[in-house]
Amino acid sequence: MGIYLDSAVISEIKEFIELPFVEGVTTNPTLIAKALGRDTITWAEFEAHIKQIGELVDGDIFVQTNHKDAKGMVEDGKKIHAVLGTKAVIKIPATSEGLKAISELADNDIRTAATAVFTGVQAYLAMLSGADFVIPYYSRVQKAANDGLDLVEDILDIIESQEMESQLLVASIKNNFDVLEIIRAGAHAITIPADIIKELLAHHQTEDAQAAFNKSLTVKG
Ligand code: E4P
Repeated sequence: MGIYLDSAVISEIKEFIELPFVEGVTTNPTLIAKALGRDTITWAEFEAHIKQIGELVDGDIFVQTNHKDAKGMVEDGKKIHAVLGTKAVIKIPATSEGLKAISELADNDIRTAATAVFTGVQAYLAMLSGADFVIPYYSRVQKAANDGLDLVEDILDIIESQEMESQLLVASIKNNFDVLEIIRAGAHAITIPADIIKELLAHHQTEDAQAAFNKSLTVKG
């Protein structure tokens, strides 16, 4: 299963992309606004930021379009692809306009991810439209008193039963427990914020054990 860092913060990307299991980075307009500290930026500033990410990350970089109409999404997607090349995966909300944009970008050999997915059928329609990834919002589903794991399993069942080639990348992760459940469910990928990756990596008993080993033996030279 592929693990991605869910962040647009350069310092976080620099730190976490060094980890051997981090395959790439996912971003969205909110994460970019947080990274730049402003909610209004120019296209030039947007492009410069994603270019900087592209210089740090060899793997997939998911960048979201910021238009609501298919034409605008396609134009955004082509410009993002022009900056990042084959590393780019264009994230597009799974609306009707979004599916049209996904289809057109697919026709141009530009990879896409249908994001903000909340139902299995939404995911299926996005896959039929040509999406390379489908991205359900796990915690937001949970907050709506639905079962995020059911949605993950529904999408996996659809991919298998319909023999789809798209990948399920689970997003909107808010705690460690969800990560374990999603791994166990067999998702193809998951994107995790930096603070949760940190929590998953560190276990005090591992660190205590290492300290005890180091204390019990000193090898000089
Ligand atoms: C991927 O980058 C998604 O946009 C992100 O995980 C959504 O998380 P949120 O529900 O906290 O906005």
